[in-house]
Amino acid sequence: MATSQTIGTQEPRIACQTVARAREVPSLTDDVEHGLLTPPRFLPPKYFYDEYGSKLFDKICETAEYYVTRTEDALLKDCAESIIDQAAPDDILELGSGTSRKTRRLLDACEGLGFCPTYSPYDISPETLQQTALDLVDEYDWLEINILIGDYEAGLRHLPKSDGRRLFCFLGSTIGNFEQEKAIAFLREIRSRMNPDDLLLLGADRVKDDDVLHAAYNDSQGLTAAFNLNVLKVLNEEVESDFDLSQFEHRAEFNADRSRIEMRLVALSDQTVVIGALDTSLRVRAGETILTEISRKFTDESLSGMLNMAGFSTAAHFTPANKYFSLVLARPQAA
Ligand code: AVJ
Repeated sequence: MATSQTIGTQEPRIACQTVARAREVPSLTDDVEHGLLTPPRFLPPKYFYDEYGSKLFDKICETAEYYVTRTEDALLKDCAESIIDQAAPDDILELGSGTSRKTRRLLDACEGLGFCPTYSPYDISPETLQQTALDLVDEYDWLEINILIGDYEAGLRHLPKSDGRRLFCFLGSTIGNFEQEKAIAFLREIRSRMNPDDLLLLGADRVKDDDVLHAAYNDSQGLTAAFNLNVLKVLNEEVESDFDLSQFEHRAEFNADRSRIEMRLVALSDQTVVIGALDTSLRVRAGETILTEISRKFTDESLSGMLNMAGFSTAAHFTPANKYFSLVLARPQAA
């Protein structure tokens, strides 16, 4: 079986391949069946990001309250040269690259230091990847890009190997959306694809003042609320349900015991919701909740603990003066 397929592009500096899945990923219908039909109800956060949801997330990043993205970007800007200097990469592979906004900091540092690695953005949307790659080759005249289309949740086993030194990047605090066990399993999987000289750059959000955390997930413009509610619209479209968005309310709280933001949708009335695709309906009582996202906030200890359990040791740790965010450069421990 072919593990990847190379797709031609017009631009000679852009190559493109599909990464075969190493395992099946549950469909939205599976996730609804598994998580939504009976309490405690929950949904994976990945369904937030349809076109409208992605736009809302971009707007959230511009609010005064949501410090996460801008803090990571500023930090990355400050330590990019140190990271590139230590990693000396021949390839930068980014898991969940999106529009590669933050990655430009690393590419700028490469330019400054005279490195010219290839860039391998790995993500699920071919259109976003192609457009971003075209923009990037335009901005960086030395850059060669190897687009990897696939779902990292479906496993990394078929990720193409690299000959040289690779810097793996998993940014944006996405690791915080995974429960501890899932996070460790995922980091182990990355670890299993690494050569001894490769490094992992991991972005993770940190524990901080409760009020700052609360405000970040309850912005005054109501964008996070709209973002949360939008998942019901996605369900209505994808599984032929009839959720009434006006009968649910956004709630995001910091659970200090578990050191994580928990984002929920709270039913405002007793209601029956039809799920056409499953030929069923569910009864939701007023006050009942659907857990739509966890966003874990780390300490030095919980971060290095998680990395250790996954077979990594810390090569460098960067955090700004306010300690709002961490970028960790981690190396695989010898097997
Ligand atoms: C993009 C997953 C890092 O957890 O903070 C923003 C998503 N959710 N506001 C996060 C999000 C609510 C975000 N991540």
